[in-house]
Amino acid sequence: KRPAGAPDKSLARKVTKIGIVGAGLMASQMALLFARRLGVPVVLTDLDQERVDKGVAYVHAEVDKLADKGRVNPDKANFLKGIVTGSTSKAAFADADFVIEAVFEEMSVKKTVFAQCEEVISPECILATNTSSLDITQMAADLKHPERVVGFHFFNPVAVMPLVEIIKSEHTDDATLATAFATGKGLGKTCILVKNSPSFVVNRLLGRFMGEVGKIVDEGTPIEVADAAFAGIAPMPPFVLIGLVGPAIALHNNETLHAAFPERFYSSPNLAKVVEAKKTGFYGPDGKLDPS
Ligand code: CAA
Repeated sequence: KRPAGAPDKSLARKVTKIGIVGAGLMASQMALLFARRLGVPVVLTDLDQERVDKGVAYVHAEVDKLADKGRVNPDKANFLKGIVTGSTSKAAFADADFVIEAVFEEMSVKKTVFAQCEEVISPECILATNTSSLDITQMAADLKHPERVVGFHFFNPVAVMPLVEIIKSEHTDDATLATAFATGKGLGKTCILVKNSPSFVVNRLLGRFMGEVGKIVDEGTPIEVADAAFAGIAPMPPFVLIGLVGPAIALHNNETLHAAFPERFYSSPNLAKVVEAKKTGFYGPDGKLDPS
């Protein structure tokens, strides 16, 4: 059955090479998924060789883990390691059909990245964004081919979470949208078309959840109690989830939603403090609550 809002699949273009801008954790998880499920070359790019090498090393290490668990055979493991490569130059995207960015969550950064990609990619190559909150129409507006821009939003951990939100801008054409749906299906994900509005659907729902638990803690409930209260509702306690997605991303999402709908979304100052202190979350690496 065709997902609601998806164009006819005959409009989808063939995807034979993937480019990923950014080689951080989200980007590297995406690289592994694209390689494993689509079996096509994937190139990760970032600002310097160290970041690129770290991203590729993550993918190789995850492939080794899959091989150790018997999930992929040794030949497939070697194949996957061979098709995921890295580069510091976006010129590596010249023959890609689908480029997705997973860089810093800031409109100007994403616009610059897309403009740089347009210098090298073919006019029909899809430009997808993994943004969790930003306006896709605005992101595409200054490009030569805004019709090939689409939101393609994964959830962490990418290998496990079953959903991709697909977001159409005012410019996105049907071939781009059909290619996004076909690609998501190829990845084994359920794809839903969501409105281009602040934080789309999933993070808007999650934002209400996270805002309320932030308020409960600010009103005096200990974090451990608030987290423990979630057993049975969600698979991961909310303050643990902040560590998984990253406090800066969680804060950005809260602030975007608070700015768009101030009466409905609460952004706790405690989260802002964690981000300011450059901590990785409310819990330390030992899994114990950080007392500061
Ligand atoms: N990468 C790859 N695989 C992972 C993983 C990771 N980081 N973490 C867990 N897994 C896999 C495990 O390997 C395991 O797979 P198998 O069963 O095939 O062996 C499976 O997930 C279950 O893992 P565990 O048994 O270790 O632990 P669990 O049952 O507690 O599940 C979890 C872990 C899947 C992360 C689960 O706790 C969960 O679903 N948490 C909620 C995550 C969530 O809400 N994500 C959305 C965040 S919001 C977001 O991402 C949007 C945004 O824009 C910010």
